[in-house]
Amino acid sequence: AVVKSPSRLHYHFMPPIGWMNDPNGLVYFNHEYHLFYQYDPYGVEWGPMHWGHAKSKDAVHWEYLPVALVPSEDYEFSEIERGHGCFSGSAVVRDKQLILMYTGNVDGRHPKQTQNIAISSDGLHFEKCHENPVIASFPEEGTEDFRDPKVWEENGQYYAVIGTKKEGLGKAALYRSQNLVNWNYLGICAQSNGEQGDMWECPDLFKVDDQDILLVSPMYGLKNSSPLAISGIFDSETGKFVQDAYDFIDYGHDFYAPQTLIDDQNRRIMIGWMNIWFAEMPEKKDGWVGAMTVSRKLSYQNNQLYQYPVKEIEELRYDGVSTSEIMISNQNDFSTQLHEAADIEIEIDLEKSKAEVFSIYLKASETVDEYIELLVDLTKGKLTCIREKSGAGEKTGSTAPFNHELAKLKLRILVDTNSIELFINDGQQVMTNRVYPLGEDNLFKIISEQALYLSQLNYWKMKTIWKG
Ligand code: FRU
Repeated sequence: AVVKSPSRLHYHFMPPIGWMNDPNGLVYFNHEYHLFYQYDPYGVEWGPMHWGHAKSKDAVHWEYLPVALVPSEDYEFSEIERGHGCFSGSAVVRDKQLILMYTGNVDGRHPKQTQNIAISSDGLHFEKCHENPVIASFPEEGTEDFRDPKVWEENGQYYAVIGTKKEGLGKAALYRSQNLVNWNYLGICAQSNGEQGDMWECPDLFKVDDQDILLVSPMYGLKNSSPLAISGIFDSETGKFVQDAYDFIDYGHDFYAPQTLIDDQNRRIMIGWMNIWFAEMPEKKDGWVGAMTVSRKLSYQNNQLYQYPVKEIEELRYDGVSTSEIMISNQNDFSTQLHEAADIEIEIDLEKSKAEVFSIYLKASETVDEYIELLVDLTKGKLTCIREKSGAGEKTGSTAPFNHELAKLKLRILVDTNSIELFINDGQQVMTNRVYPLGEDNLFKIISEQALYLSQLNYWKMKTIWKG
């Protein structure tokens, strides 16, 4: 049963009930997107990990499917209540079969983490392979923390990149196989430069717009273990990824363990967990916890990784309001009421504007002292999300840089019951935060002392993706 609760989101993926963390096994199979996820259906705390499962025709509307993996085998099950399970992993399509590769974890056993596969012909029922574990131990350059295989096919061979650590440095181990069962270790393809974390969780390695990108979710890295996009040059023959530059994937507080897939339109689409470990998660009181970001299409432009909501999201828009040439000043605030789920586009003409700073308020209330503020500094190119008065939940703020030397500043803001995803300048920087307002007014305001020219302001209500 799906729990009914006021904290449910309108157009973001959530578990039907219970606990959810990382997205797993993202794959396009038989004309449908599949999303698996780290799942404990029996409680609202992290526990024995199952793989929840859902699919979608458009990467927006998700249909719940039966649990795909339950911890059952000795490489993934023990009597310890917390500390075993089918940990994160990925999926690949081979001869019309859908194959999952995941980490079996048993705390207290040595080695505690092994890599395993499960096979399905219908994309619904999965059978664990008799040869499991297919990678029974960690390489010498790594340690027992050895998990989250991301598998892909290239020139008729399979590759898997797996996160590990040694001597305080996160590492990505690379393997190659002809058949997904026998794997050859090719070496550590990349490792932390010292500030990129002491354990690399959930690596993903792919090409987008001809650029090789390695995504990692580093433990104890910079800024709350915020996931990194590392650009570089990958050579599948030598198995080396040479780092060039890196940046946070998302400047917000609530974003972890992103994974990507490639679809039939050759789009590289990423979904992340819209939470982080050890955050307060107020929806627990309603019997469920955890949400995913919307599907974001990746591109590589201006030597940076861009992400933008897939265009299918726009199908959810209704009752739109579209205005142009608005001047905001101390004489003239903008204020309106939004639907709980909304999509906003703001385009600011920086050449005409006199303002040095301005603020956007979201989910503001008239009755309680509550709001989320996006404070934009146009002289420094800095945007700060202030959550101190955001209701329940975490209050930590977050800041993103942006290019303020352009003629325009473009903001796209996806607002849902308790999430705000902000895309700056077509997704050059992104900021994701969870917010739990108690009031219901949902006021949206733009306030500026000095003249601020909006060349365009559009906003819509968003339909729900859930039936019933
Ligand atoms: C990342 C992670 C993975 C692990 C999974 C366990 O959030 O810690 O490294 O496989 O969660 O649920």
